[in-house]
Amino acid sequence: MKYVIGIDVGTSGTKTVLFDEKGGVIASATIEYPLYQPQNGWAEQDPLDWWNASAKTTKTVIEKSGVAPEAIVGVGISGQMHGLVMLDGKNNVLRPSIIWCDQRTAEECEDIERLMGGRDRLIAITANPALTGFTASKIMWVKKHEPEIYAKCAHILLPKDYIRLMLTGEYATEVSDASGMQLLDVPRRDWSDEVLEKLGIDRSLLGKVYESPEITGTVTPEASALTGLAPGTPVVGGAGDNAAAAVGVGVVSDGRAFTTIGTSGVVFAHTDSITIDPKGRVHTFCCAVPGAWHVMGVTQAAGLSLRWIRDTVCAPEVAEAERQGVDPYRIMDAEAAESPIGANRLLYMPYLMGERTPHLDPKVRGGFIGLSGMHTRGDMIRAVLEGVSYSLKDCLGVLDGMGVKPDDMKICGGGGKSPLWRQMLADVYGIPVTRIASDEGPALGVAILAMVGAGLYPSVKDACDAIVKTKDSVEPDPARTAAYAKFYAVYDALYPHLKADFDALAAL
Ligand code: XUL
Repeated sequence: MKYVIGIDVGTSGTKTVLFDEKGGVIASATIEYPLYQPQNGWAEQDPLDWWNASAKTTKTVIEKSGVAPEAIVGVGISGQMHGLVMLDGKNNVLRPSIIWCDQRTAEECEDIERLMGGRDRLIAITANPALTGFTASKIMWVKKHEPEIYAKCAHILLPKDYIRLMLTGEYATEVSDASGMQLLDVPRRDWSDEVLEKLGIDRSLLGKVYESPEITGTVTPEASALTGLAPGTPVVGGAGDNAAAAVGVGVVSDGRAFTTIGTSGVVFAHTDSITIDPKGRVHTFCCAVPGAWHVMGVTQAAGLSLRWIRDTVCAPEVAEAERQGVDPYRIMDAEAAESPIGANRLLYMPYLMGERTPHLDPKVRGGFIGLSGMHTRGDMIRAVLEGVSYSLKDCLGVLDGMGVKPDDMKICGGGGKSPLWRQMLADVYGIPVTRIASDEGPALGVAILAMVGAGLYPSVKDACDAIVKTKDSVEPDPARTAAYAKFYAVYDALYPHLKADFDALAAL
């Protein structure tokens, strides 16, 4: 039997999983680390936390499993997209990483579109408008506000590509994650000289671009000592977390789509040919299948909304969960299930961290609309689940307008574990929602890429066909779909009604 390892460098922690060649989980380990928010709207992490967690979890899974390191034929790396890692000539980290949900760069986004001679030219090359979440605006921010750091910068890497450097000594990335830097020519799958020149970013700062299943380097003796991997073990390109999750749930050909609810929520559809929303409301990125792309809409605060209400409002549910020894979200689900569709006429706008799809508005914020003295915590929890579901429906609506019309929706991420939320999504979308047998999402996805890189399977699709199995499906109920549609219509009108008020609030 041969084995592979998938490492997923997430926002809350790094999860490493050792799989056998059939995708069976042999051992798994997670280490969490802090998120620093030095100012309102800023979000930073320490790349050394990511590396320490990656090295330790890898060592742990190998030791726990008793598998001989030589039987591990490949490593795949995945992780949070867009984060900016800046290194000096000796690979020292120059400043904390500015990560994907940081919102400080609205001004730099305007600068980028101006320098490019307009938004249309930028979208034609990078397939996306300038966004605060993407890496290019973060680079421009450091250039403007910390010129002394920019002057020392010799290498720019994404979070998972920093782990690759520490494992292999190679400065490299792959097309799916590089797409989220806004420096890649997404149709041509290579760095754009035009964008680099207009933004004044030297190409030598960036790593070599690979396709996701390609081997990008091998484990060095130093990394071997820290991780327990055998020196010479191949490390493949891997993928950004959403492109990796797509492989882990088998969304690797036209017509297939999935929703993931983690901190953010994503509706992701595979496309064999490139499709771009001219308004830039959804992202078009290269996917982990060589020569193919994907479109995805992003709800910034999906699981984050539920965690927020748990931490601010649901102390009694958390206490009850402790008494019963269960996950607080299961108690919250049970209370939300007691509330009817529409949460007794209470709506929730999930814009706690601004919003990407469909509004592209870093200034908008969240809200409960329709609060009454009769509302309970159960109604509020249900309104949050429904509001996030409506926002994900917005994502699906933009894809639909682009002619991307999936007839089934796979589900993964923490939110996908809730039966209530799965049924709600099926009803709100009006299409079946299907769970996959494995819960490992991105870690399994990059492990599959490692298997392809190691030659165990001829292609990503062949590997997915052999490994990814569905678990169960929920069907939409037409009566419930009609009931949700009435509340969605009111939700849909809220943002245009309130936009000027959010702008005014942000200006105070
Ligand atoms: C995608 C995005 C998030 C992060 C979170 O564009 O910003 O999904 O990758 O991990």
